[in-house]
Amino acid sequence: MKTYALVLAAGKGTRMKTEVPKCAYPILRKPIIEYIVEKFERSGYIDEVVVVVGYKKEVFEELLDGRVVFCEQLEQKGTADAVNAARPYLENKEGVTFIVPGDMPLMTTKLTNKIIQAHKDMGNDLTLVTSILDNPKGYGRIVRNKFGVVQKIVEDKDSNEYQKQIHEVNSGVYVVNNDILFQALDRVQTNNVKGEYYLTDIVELLNQEKKIGVFTIRDSWQAMGVNDLYQVSQAEKYLRDIINKDHMMNGVNIVNSETVTLGHDVIIEPSAKILPNTTITGNSVIKANTIIGPNTEIHNSVIHEYTEVKHSLIYDSVVMEHTTIGPFAHLRNHAIIGPNNRIGNFVEVKNSSTGADTKASHLSYIGDATVGSRVNFGCGSITVNFDGVNKHRTNIGDDVFIGCNVNMVAPLNISDNVFIAAGSTVTKDIPKGSLTIARSKQIDKEDYYSHYIKLKPKNPKTE
Ligand code: UD1
Ligand code: CA
Repeated sequence: MKTYALVLAAGKGTRMKTEVPKCAYPILRKPIIEYIVEKFERSGYIDEVVVVVGYKKEVFEELLDGRVVFCEQLEQKGTADAVNAARPYLENKEGVTFIVPGDMPLMTTKLTNKIIQAHKDMGNDLTLVTSILDNPKGYGRIVRNKFGVVQKIVEDKDSNEYQKQIHEVNSGVYVVNNDILFQALDRVQTNNVKGEYYLTDIVELLNQEKKIGVFTIRDSWQAMGVNDLYQVSQAEKYLRDIINKDHMMNGVNIVNSETVTLGHDVIIEPSAKILPNTTITGNSVIKANTIIGPNTEIHNSVIHEYTEVKHSLIYDSVVMEHTTIGPFAHLRNHAIIGPNNRIGNFVEVKNSSTGADTKASHLSYIGDATVGSRVNFGCGSITVNFDGVNKHRTNIGDDVFIGCNVNMVAPLNISDNVFIAAGSTVTKDIPKGSLTIARSKQIDKEDYYSHYIKLKPKNPKTE
């Protein structure tokens, strides 16, 4: 017997007030739906994942291409109608379906599996997953009779004053045997405040005839649904704390952890140190004995051992070992910085690589360049890579000393062992071993000051 996961992600997410559909909205830069689908892919309990899409379905089709089965809900008429959209695919398949709202990113794989196991162990037809919240506002309430047996679920908007006091809420997760699911859906009506087909109604419809079990989630944050941007920030806060804790337990020193945001997939080796106000996301890898931060952003980048990055931005780049980045450096678009480099104050490196022991300590732009080892960029020296129409490359050999404020106009090849005088604008390739001076000669007009004094009026009017 197979176990299917059914994710409901067709809704617009009106309360979000964002362009991006709710279930694709990023949390720590990863779309909510990704968290959910990944969890099922890792589960080992789920044979197939079915996603119900509707509003902006192309966003989901692109994100999950080839990984799930899509069913389309043409009009968003409620959660029961969304499940019904999967009828053509699931109805004749013998098995169990784990239904989850597409706005519930925090439930762990471990808990998911535990719920499925409980459904099977208890021999339920339907397992309802609940949690107890201090503030249950917005959630469907679990109504039990005087013996504690679940009767029905009442939505917040449809609940009376007594029902509003109930703290046990519907997480929106259900495990249900396929053979009874679609029969129950046939009987769902729209007699509620929103005039929608509520999936929650299947509880009341089935409670007389079928075995309904309840699984209550102890860590209630795992049951959290994300409906607006405030809840996005709350989900982010939980996730941040869980992720940071894992890293700390693994030997990563995180200073002032509440201000440090680490993406779900970031790998950090023990004995790295992360300083305040730092965000590391995407597929980044931070190796051992590095110091990252404060005030640093790193995305999709690798930072090797003993490197220090402070007050800087690094995107899609690699920094080798024993290098210092910052303060206030910006690496982007496949910058590859060699070992024992120094990329200092207000230096930008784009789509360029450097060899070992190279230094650009202040105010440089290195764009579209291949730079060798032991190169020194003087303060203010830059590669001029753009002619207004096209970008061109600069190649710089080993042991090159570039004076301050040098413009290297690409396309350009600078050989090994070259010195370039400060203030030069270099437009031609430089042969090996040269001293290149490319600026106008200095002219000193001697005795100019005494000449000037003579011309100066005796009592100049000052206003
Ligand atoms: C739903 C539950 C509520 C529960 C809460 C938990 C219902 C009627 N209510 O409320 O009991 O406490 O989740 O978070 O089920 N969707 C569709 N098509 C639709 C409508 C919704 O695919 O026509 C999807 C949405 O994209 C969303 C999910 O279903 O991912 C839940 O919908 P939402 O509107 O967020 O339901 P809640 O009001 O939060
Ligand atoms: Ca919701």
